Amino acid sequence: MSSTKKPKKAPIQLVKGMKDILPLEADFWSFIKERVFLMARDYGFQYIDTPIVEATALFKRAVGEETDAVSKEMYSFVDQGGDKLSLRPENTAGVVRAYIEHGMLSLPQPVKLFYFAPQFRHEKPQAGRYRQFWQFGFEVLGETDPVVDAQLISMSYFILKELGLNTEVQINSIGDDACRPKYIKVLSQYFKDNKKDLCADCQKRLVKNPLRLLDCKVKKCQEIAQNAPQTVDYLCDVCNKDFTAVLEYLDEMDIKYVLNPKIVRGLDYYTKTAWELVELDEEGKLQALGGGGRYDALVENLGGRNTPAAGFACGVERIISKMREHKVELPAAFRPDIYIAQLGTEARKKSLRLMQELREAGLSVAEDISKTGLKNQLELADKRKAKYALILGQKEIVDGTILIRDMENGVQETVDYKKIVKEIQKRLNIHVVEKVLRGHSIRNK
Ligand code: HAM
Repeated sequence: MSSTKKPKKAPIQLVKGMKDILPLEADFWSFIKERVFLMARDYGFQYIDTPIVEATALFKRAVGEETDAVSKEMYSFVDQGGDKLSLRPENTAGVVRAYIEHGMLSLPQPVKLFYFAPQFRHEKPQAGRYRQFWQFGFEVLGETDPVVDAQLISMSYFILKELGLNTEVQINSIGDDACRPKYIKVLSQYFKDNKKDLCADCQKRLVKNPLRLLDCKVKKCQEIAQNAPQTVDYLCDVCNKDFTAVLEYLDEMDIKYVLNPKIVRGLDYYTKTAWELVELDEEGKLQALGGGGRYDALVENLGGRNTPAAGFACGVERIISKMREHKVELPAAFRPDIYIAQLGTEARKKSLRLMQELREAGLSVAEDISKTGLKNQLELADKRKAKYALILGQKEIVDGTILIRDMENGVQETVDYKKIVKEIQKRLNIHVVEKVLRGHSIRNK
């Protein structure tokens, strides 16, 4: 019989601009997530997870139809039911929608929320710029006091510091509805006077979104922007007072900042304080690892009551790439308390139950239950840096015992099987066991 050879199928590849999160980076992801959740707990923020897909109208209204994120980069589609939907390009709009929709306005204010979630922007792929990327973000809704801005800036700065990154805080105030129109008028006039030298995009922005001319990346436009009028010179009394207060709080906390009149942020909802956390990238250009600001008009703009708010978000992929570039060392890898090695069918069955008992007692247990040889299993226990190995073979099953091996010095002892949990707890000096978020246990010793 002649065997017909099946044609080899071409592999289907990762979508352009997307990124797989591979085991090589997994420890970074866990570490960042852990630090973010701990910071949220310490500062009293509660977790929120809104859908990846929202009505396109939400982003058009919140982020702004003329922004790059909405007009050029949004993944939009009409679903089978005819609804116009988009993958979220950022998370603040969704959080504010949820705040209004679930009546969080009636909760004690401010409401403090945080997220750790993927975002989507169809940007030109390049280093540190992906089409799916993750952000963690913190939002405070229902508080007007500029101390909140200062605290959010300090949180954004210190979380990056805890992750081993020394960033620069660049800050600006872009005013509010009372003072910004006047500034925009002066700014537009300035750029109109230089119109012929602006890039094609900026010539369009001049009509639709003149603020964005300040952060155009084209060299000639940057040169013109260098001498443009600055927002801080046009702030009304309230915005001026609040901005001064934010800077004073930062001084009080010893957080260094650079006043950068070009920080206008790429999203339309901002008012007053705007900031970015920047680092030099491989080509010596500044790259933002995070950014945020006040958005006092957004809740009302999305149909809620007039509610002040502020927040920030940081990009996880960019943070990991910087951590790797700076060779940030993660804390010592997690060490299991116990490794269970088993030999023979009966021992394997019994060890399945034993693992559960040990876990219920709050101990961390490692195993390779499908393996058979003892030498092999002890090598794996060593590789995982387990503190103790428990060895269960045919002899121990018959005798009702178990072998406990101290993995540091190799000393082995036979123990009554029924007493093993207590024996391990005694050796690890554990009195109280408390299960926490982190996936393993914290003990009071
Ligand atoms: P954003 O400045 O657009 O702000 O994004 C925050 C951070 O997300 C950036 O600083 C960057 O680290 C990361 N990021 C943005 N785009 C990409 C990309 N294509 N690839 C990789 N990382 C990226 C916001 O999104 C606002 N929602 C922040 C905010 C929260 N403002 C108030 N509350």
